[in-house]
Amino acid sequence: MDIEAIRADTPAVVRRAYMHNAGAALMPVPVVDAAKRHLDLEAEIGGYHAAAREHDRIEAVYDSVARLLNAHRDEVALVENATVAWQMAFYSLQFGPGDRILTAEAEYAANYVAYLQVTRRTGAVIDVVPSDATGALDVAALERMIDDRVKLIAITWIPTNGGLVNPAEAVGKVARAHGIPYLLDACQAVGQMPVDVEAVGCDMLSATGRKFLRGPRGTGFLYVRRPLLERLEPPMIDHFAAPWVAMDRYELRPDARRFENWENNYAARLGLGVAVDYALAIGLDAIRDRCRLLAGRLRAGLAGIPGAVVRDLGRDPSAIVSFTIEGREADAIVAGALAQDIVIGASKASSTRIDAERRHLPPVVRASPHYYNSDAEVDRLLDYLRAG
Ligand SMILES: Cc1ncc(COP(=O)(O)O)c(C=O)c1O
Repeated sequence: MDIEAIRADTPAVVRRAYMHNAGAALMPVPVVDAAKRHLDLEAEIGGYHAAAREHDRIEAVYDSVARLLNAHRDEVALVENATVAWQMAFYSLQFGPGDRILTAEAEYAANYVAYLQVTRRTGAVIDVVPSDATGALDVAALERMIDDRVKLIAITWIPTNGGLVNPAEAVGKVARAHGIPYLLDACQAVGQMPVDVEAVGCDMLSATGRKFLRGPRGTGFLYVRRPLLERLEPPMIDHFAAPWVAMDRYELRPDARRFENWENNYAARLGLGVAVDYALAIGLDAIRDRCRLLAGRLRAGLAGIPGAVVRDLGRDPSAIVSFTIEGREADAIVAGALAQDIVIGASKASSTRIDAERRHLPPVVRASPHYYNSDAEVDRLLDYLRAG
């Protein structure tokens, strides 16, 4: 990995130590340029003609995302964010009284409130799979919980509040063995590690552009495996998702674009495509290794700071480093860091309530280095934390 070239593509690194990539990463120059170029074109010839002129490039975004996921382009829907992607999949599924939705303790708030809404409406129930001794979803427990009332397994791969990497692939094996639809929230995973829907065995996967993928805000995508895709009726449709083919009839598109609608931010979408290509060109294996190396350096440094407690779960944590420091509020730590041009974030219990309540977690600081960060930036954060 040519770190110098990569850092040159990320000009803000000379001004700040940016480790808020689980929130919104810094976009590399080619991403910003692609989006700006399209906005300029829209300003010059109008949005419709700009989209027509850039048609091939816009279409190629589907190929890029498909390559990223090892999926087919027809299985990809491009939407506004990970939440919309997830909602489109989840709310397409049908539940009845007594049906069970299995999820994990690290589930993201947006997903969990949707379970609550649907279970209230339908009489279905949510069952939370317990975690194992490391804090990851317990696959043996999941297996024991399976019965013919389980209509969905839906988990978050990497939670919003820490480094845990849930065993998405092992969950996929269980889901496949029992023929249960499997919806995976990969929002914090894409862009920081390889994501292969065939290896994972998920039927639906949602993700965002602005986090570790380094794409523009307001971008996201949904993957839906073909056989399931054909059976899913989106909760809301328009005449793009489902062309109006006769006075009394619409026909759902055959591809995953049935989860989209007509109007789009093409500048952002083009930026997303470039971000995906950028990550693929560097290589997701190399990205994962460097992310873990930097996160490991940060965790090791935190171990030497009095009162600091690393809160990450799991055997081999990702590049999201969560911690608390005794006697110091997470928000104050984040604000103090910002004053020194060190950008990190915090995560509150309400984002991951099951996990946070089970562990009695206060708000945690969340530092998420990416491959474009340096050892020196990690050390700068540690120096700031050490100085109190
Ligand atoms: C695990 C997880 N899922 C989903 C989302 C939602 O992503 P978006 O804000 O793009 O809708 C987030 C955002 O923080 C997240 O951390």
